[in-house]
Amino acid sequence: MVCLTNTFVVLLLGFMIVKCSPSTAIKQSNKTACSQLRQRKAWHNLSNTEKTKYLNAELCLMNLNSTNNLLPTSRTKFQQLQEQHQIQSEFIHEVGAFLPYRLRDAGRFINSTLLDSIYGFGGNGSGLDGYVADGPFANYTLILGPGKNNSVHCLSRDIDDLASHASNSTYFDQCKKADTYVKVWDCIEFFPRSGGHSGVGGELDQMAQVLSSPGDPLFYLHHAYIDKLWWDWQNFNLSSRLYEIGGPNVRPTAELPLRKRNGDFGNMTKLDHVLSLYSIMPNKTIGDVMDTRSDFLCYKYAEP
Ligand SMILES: *[C@@H]1O[C@H](CO)[C@@H](O)[C@H](O)[C@H]1NC(C)=O
Ligand SMILES: *[C@@H]1O[C@H](CO)[C@@H](O)[C@H](O)[C@H]1NC(C)=O
Ligand SMILES: *[C@@H]1O[C@H](CO)[C@@H](O)[C@H](O)[C@H]1NC(C)=O
Ligand SMILES: *[C@@H]1O[C@H](CO)[C@@H](O)[C@H](O)[C@H]1NC(C)=O
Ligand SMILES: *[C@@H]1O[C@H](CO)[C@@H](O)[C@H](O)[C@H]1NC(C)=O
Ligand SMILES: *[C@@H]1O[C@H](CO)[C@@H](O)[C@H](O)[C@H]1NC(C)=O
Ligand SMILES: *[C@@H]1O[C@H](CO)[C@@H](O)[C@H](O)[C@H]1NC(C)=O
Ligand SMILES: *[C@@H]1O[C@H](CO)[C@@H](O)[C@H](O)[C@H]1NC(C)=O
Ligand SMILES: *[C@@H]1O[C@H](CO)[C@@H](O)[C@H](O)[C@H]1NC(C)=O
Ligand SMILES: *[C@@H]1O[C@H](CO)[C@@H](O)[C@H](O)[C@H]1NC(C)=O
Ligand SMILES: *[C@@H]1O[C@H](CO)[C@@H](O)[C@H](O)[C@H]1NC(C)=O
Repeated sequence: MVCLTNTFVVLLLGFMIVKCSPSTAIKQSNKTACSQLRQRKAWHNLSNTEKTKYLNAELCLMNLNSTNNLLPTSRTKFQQLQEQHQIQSEFIHEVGAFLPYRLRDAGRFINSTLLDSIYGFGGNGSGLDGYVADGPFANYTLILGPGKNNSVHCLSRDIDDLASHASNSTYFDQCKKADTYVKVWDCIEFFPRSGGHSGVGGELDQMAQVLSSPGDPLFYLHHAYIDKLWWDWQNFNLSSRLYEIGGPNVRPTAELPLRKRNGDFGNMTKLDHVLSLYSIMPNKTIGDVMDTRSDFLCYKYAEP
């Protein structure tokens, strides 16, 4: 197994502009107010230059050493993002905060431009182990996962287009009919979200791993799409939906007593619930991230 060693300079990761140097990666720009909304575009609407910058940003994070001792297993900045997800699984799945944290190719992932070997994330897994053998993340080596088991393994995929149908517009049109946050979150987490995970990861491969899926760089695009679906729902009735939140604040099946956590009073998710990324970024509350146009996030979606 070969780890990638490329280095790169100024980059775009999702909606964040990151300068890739050891001291500044994943830092918010120091803006005071949101004067101009950044555009969050669909992948197929990016130019090849923009695609290359995005891919290079992910490679860059994979090559910067971690200095975060709250996430002790991580050796790189990219692994930090995966490790906080692995640790927090019981507090970010099947909970009201699921959406605050976080297709047109549904049913035909295998032919998606996302899987391009030059201007994309590389293709399906190959060989008996399903390792990704082409593209910028070919032979990328993981040390976190599968699940809570940490072992050295290669990035694997098993594209499954029966499963990827769950991300299609029929399911989202169904979700859009929900009249409360709790219903739309439940629908999005169950259908479009699982379609992306199982559609890329099959049953066992990286993206299908509930705890360790952020090890596949495709994870962040998939969750950007999930965020967009949520915004579409909010946008149907901003006056009542922009700040609507609910649901439990600990996974109902967690082997943990329901308890006050992260600023919530009682067992329900509220706007004062604290979202923590283990110092990768400063703590924020759910109220801070409900409106993508706020000073903190400061972006809007470019309709694809
Ligand atoms: C950035 O913001 C922080 C917190 O408001 C402030 O302490 C710091 O001086 C600012 N830095 C710059 C370069 O403006
Ligand atoms: C995105 O791409 C689609 C298909 O190529 C095109 O129809 C659409 O106008 C583009 N949207 C933007 C915002 O560029
Ligand atoms: C990053 O960590 C590796 C392995 O621990 C080490 O060999 C390398 O010198 C470190 N690089 C920097 C820039 O600190
Ligand atoms: C993918 O493209 C190939 C070649 O054009 C085609 O035969 C196949 O049906 C497509 N698969 C899907 C799921 O659309
Ligand atoms: C992806 O690759 C796996 C084997 O690694 C294979 O079983 C699966 O059918 C492939 N998916 C598609 C859609 O071709
Ligand atoms: C990936 O690893 C395999 C087996 O070690 C090797 O043959 C192949 O050249 C590597 N591919 C890349 C792009 O590094
Ligand atoms: C982790 O290891 C345990 C014990 O070997 C095993 O039962 C479990 O299936 C593994 N989990 C995953 C996700 O591989
Ligand atoms: C979505 O997938 C389901 C099967 O899971 C299918 O019945 C439906 O027609 C699909 N919708 C679209 C728009 O392709
Ligand atoms: C938005 O929601 C409010 C409160 O539920 C409701 O009174 C209003 O009619 C809704 N507006 C639209 C356009 O559905
Ligand atoms: C939260 O607690 C209340 C009473 O304290 C209870 O009625 C409700 O069912 C609980 N909700 C969840 C999601 O556990
Ligand atoms: C961030 O939130 C977590 C979870 O509530 C908490 O444990 C941690 O102390 C907070 N960190 C800071 C710097 O406030």
